[in-house]
Amino acid sequence: MSFERPLDLIERPRRLRRTASLRAMVKETVLTPADFIAPLFVIDGKGAPQAIKSMPGVFRYNVKDLVKECRALYKLGVPAVALFPKLAARYKTEDGRHALDEDGLILRTVKAIKSALPELTVITDVALDPYTTHGHDGVLNAAGDDVANDETVDILCDMAVLQAEAGVDIVAPSDMMDGRVGALREALDEAGCPQTAIMAYSAKFNSAYYGPFRDAVGSSQAAGTRLLSKATYQLDPANRRQAINEAALDEDEGADFIMVKPAGAYLDIIRDVREQTGKPVAAYQVSGEYAQIQAAAKLGWLDLARCSEESLIAIKRAGADLILTYFAKDMAKRLG
Ligand code: PBG
Repeated sequence: MSFERPLDLIERPRRLRRTASLRAMVKETVLTPADFIAPLFVIDGKGAPQAIKSMPGVFRYNVKDLVKECRALYKLGVPAVALFPKLAARYKTEDGRHALDEDGLILRTVKAIKSALPELTVITDVALDPYTTHGHDGVLNAAGDDVANDETVDILCDMAVLQAEAGVDIVAPSDMMDGRVGALREALDEAGCPQTAIMAYSAKFNSAYYGPFRDAVGSSQAAGTRLLSKATYQLDPANRRQAINEAALDEDEGADFIMVKPAGAYLDIIRDVREQTGKPVAAYQVSGEYAQIQAAAKLGWLDLARCSEESLIAIKRAGADLILTYFAKDMAKRLG
């Protein structure tokens, strides 16, 4: 077909989009299963996997089933799992002391995974929220109106040493207390665990996207009539410079990985951190990000496979080397 006015263009970017093979040749960001870290929820006992209503397709597993899930992930090429416990109410106290129980659920889980799959990287959370009655990440001050920083860090150090001694590869402080990365590094080294790495939740925002996770670990309860607000320790979503500063502090204190969390709504921060650090950058696509896509897909409003992939590509494109995501298994299957 001839027509009157073909444009006189030197560049026609569409040339490189014409065929599937051309598009593959110029693809800039490619996901692989090795990019993913699968967050997993563990429960005590021998019961069947428990569905989490606000996170379709995600379950709380008993230790035995969780090891099976780890094996499946490992076979699919997912190199790491991040563990979170859901504890029975009787283990929760004001001071979260069960976090230091040598026979605690997480320590048993780490040992079970490591004896079955020594090569799988195991990451444990360092924060008190699954263990406290109030759901905060640390212990409260004397007035009971805020989380006490230094007292909390002290407990977290003991917690991390127990996890390291149980064989965990990476401890991941998600508590946002000041100075915790340096204190953890020192405690781990002193305890003879210099090889245990620290993945710091450096730029962790005070996000409403954590809602479904709090259902999953049962940390959403308010103490008394007070609502659970983590605003005195987690970053204000409005603050970019503070996020960059937190990442720099954690790096100086010895963090081996720098994490940004949540991911999808904070791609600018991922890019900022990527440009400032030589350390690997992790991003956590959190429960609410997962739930949003799942919910819309359930209503038939979004395509689950395409949206989940696009959300992850965007996070990697922004600069994340590693992505904690509840889509890890499904995506790894599709990529495999
Ligand atoms: C708490 C913790 C949270 C998440 C991971 N560790 C929630 C919170 O800060 O209340 C959220 C993860 C998610 O939403 O998927 N230490």
